Amino acid sequence: MKSKLPIIYRISFCVLSLAACTYSTVAQNITIPVETSNNALVLQVSKNKDLGTIYLGKKLSAAAEYEQIPAVYRQASDYTGGLINSAYTPSGSRNLFEPAISVTHADGNNSLDLRYVSHKVTKVDADVSLLSIVLKDPVYDFEVTLYYKSYYKEDVVEQWSVIKHKEKGNVTLQKFASANLYLKSDSYYLTQYHGDWAKEMQPEETRLTHGIKTLDTKLGTRANLFAPSVFMVSLDKPATEDEGTVLYGSVEWSSNFRVDLELDNLDNLRIIAGINNYASAYTLKPNEEFTTPAFLYTLSDKGKGDASRKLQRWARNYRILDGKGNRLTLLNNWEATYFDFDEAKLAELLKDTKKLGVDMFLLDDGWFANKYPRNGDVAGLGDWEENKKKLPNGVSSLVKEATANGVKFGIWIEPEMVNPKSELYEKHPDWVVKQPKREEHYLRNQLELDLSNPAVQDFVFKIVDDLFTKNPELAYIKWDCNAVVFNAYSAHLKNQNHFYIEYMRGLYKVLERIRAKYPTVPMMLCSGGGGRVDYAAHKYFTEFWPSDNTDPMERIFIQWEYSYFYPAISSSNHVTDWGKQPIKFRTDVAMMGKLGFDIVVSHLSGKDLQYCQDAIKNYNALKSTIWQGDQYRLADPRKNSVASVLYVNEAKSGAVMFNYLVNNRYGEGSKLPIRLKGLDAAKKYKIKEINLYPDSRSSLDESKTYTGDFLMTVGYNPDVNSGRTSVVLQIDAAN
Ligand code: DGJ
Repeated sequence: MKSKLPIIYRISFCVLSLAACTYSTVAQNITIPVETSNNALVLQVSKNKDLGTIYLGKKLSAAAEYEQIPAVYRQASDYTGGLINSAYTPSGSRNLFEPAISVTHADGNNSLDLRYVSHKVTKVDADVSLLSIVLKDPVYDFEVTLYYKSYYKEDVVEQWSVIKHKEKGNVTLQKFASANLYLKSDSYYLTQYHGDWAKEMQPEETRLTHGIKTLDTKLGTRANLFAPSVFMVSLDKPATEDEGTVLYGSVEWSSNFRVDLELDNLDNLRIIAGINNYASAYTLKPNEEFTTPAFLYTLSDKGKGDASRKLQRWARNYRILDGKGNRLTLLNNWEATYFDFDEAKLAELLKDTKKLGVDMFLLDDGWFANKYPRNGDVAGLGDWEENKKKLPNGVSSLVKEATANGVKFGIWIEPEMVNPKSELYEKHPDWVVKQPKREEHYLRNQLELDLSNPAVQDFVFKIVDDLFTKNPELAYIKWDCNAVVFNAYSAHLKNQNHFYIEYMRGLYKVLERIRAKYPTVPMMLCSGGGGRVDYAAHKYFTEFWPSDNTDPMERIFIQWEYSYFYPAISSSNHVTDWGKQPIKFRTDVAMMGKLGFDIVVSHLSGKDLQYCQDAIKNYNALKSTIWQGDQYRLADPRKNSVASVLYVNEAKSGAVMFNYLVNNRYGEGSKLPIRLKGLDAAKKYKIKEINLYPDSRSSLDESKTYTGDFLMTVGYNPDVNSGRTSVVLQIDAAN
């Protein structure tokens, strides 16, 4: 008898029975779990060799039970015949959703199907494993290998793919994602970030609705100016600091990225992330390999704080250059002098560096170019010879002078850029990114050099190499990048669709060369503020500049958000004259990271100077806890009148707690105790207020000891109020 049900219901019955069928034939399925200490990503090969994600969440104690997961879902119809949860969604065959990969074959055909061929797991070391899975198209000689690098202790996974083919001509990659996650939950809440110059890392949280939400950038360089690639997705309900399941994601690519978050008809969430394919259809020759950058993620069922500590730990252990090493405190001259300086002025600043008590003097923009002197941001970029008027004896005499003063010397460069008013532009107009037939358009009066061109790569490498060759004692580089790409065009490339990708590959090649020759010299990643930070760049850079906005009130918020994704050791925080707060407040905020100053030391009052000198000594004593400790966000400035952040060392024997008044309304302050976290409940602690302004006394009774239990259950009141707007507490285990 023929079924009287409409076709759509017949399909659902079929899917339901298929689910049961899958369950009963599990023995035939290949199940591939990627387990870390708390989580599991579980992939499964179906009978027709589609590779799908059957689970991403908290690890089960019995791994054999992963296979039973698909059968316990009773969702709507999957019209794609099992492709809906694809681990790397191809397009043009059965897929109906956003693809991870989309290609045009050598014969012009747009269809792709990817079936499981084999997989292997390599144990890199006790903590790290690498899973690779080979997928092939049954019709075309086209292959994708998916890589999953898992960091067991840190609960972090990096995913990327390698694409190649042996077709009889070139294949065009229309889309080529790094990763394709598939999550199941009742609801999904996305936290994304937007910003602009001096307004970096503004969070927005929304419930994801059906359809696609795309986070992306098309700016090329300074790519994060309006949006970084970092994001969070909370499952079931918005995660808080200590509760809820939350996934953090980030694309390891310092240029155009794209993250698609698609809620499908089954109410499941597909996250597809990688290089932005905007203007970047990639022509892949036979046998050539296209390796995507990695997509990085971590997952926690214990809230945002736990997720951030995992990521911070991973970053210090595995990614940030010299992540477990030392950093230099510094005095920068950017806001103290801007472009207006000479040797005599710098000599004074070098003396001030020593007087202040920091490790290094950092000479900023304005030290170079002669035909078109760099006396403002309108000229000179690209001409990296010392300006003879300002520095008649060159950088080397400054380095010597610094050494004589007992401090180190660092220097600013912006090597990817050029001012049209420069000798470099006159000599090499073909090295400049610009459309041959269109009017030039600038940001900060400058243009990019075409890093896809090996000659330009040599030039940029040489800028750094020359500085170090001539000045072996040079201790630090601040690498700036102030423009975005307008009029994308390379005179060097034959295929303009490769421009954005080849630019970034070119930059990474230069950075590789720099690091091969100068492996650990600290370099700060700056981009007109926080326009460029990600975990690909952090392979080469020891630290980044979160924002030009150094108003400490703003910084509390900016640093708070960055800290979800990056550890304190990589956040360069400078004390400047921005904002209305006293020097104590400004310094205390900058201490929650890598401390620097950008002030005129000679303008400080005697007491202000004394305060800074004492604070630097405190910082030196506590910096290892701030840089390497676990960070706990105790009181959120967006929700409270007081912001509070705690860093606890690994042994739980020492901690530093920073507290700030962020609401100036009458009577506001720390009315209630603030609960500490991460301490040892059984240990006893003494609490001492540090960073006191000269001649002031703490209002706290420092004679008492408290158990970790008390501090974490009842809390402690730092007594923040309008007379004590910034309070720093040193917490030490009492013997
Ligand atoms: C932008 C940076 O963010 C500043 O810190 C400073 O280095 C200027 N560029 C120099 O031009």
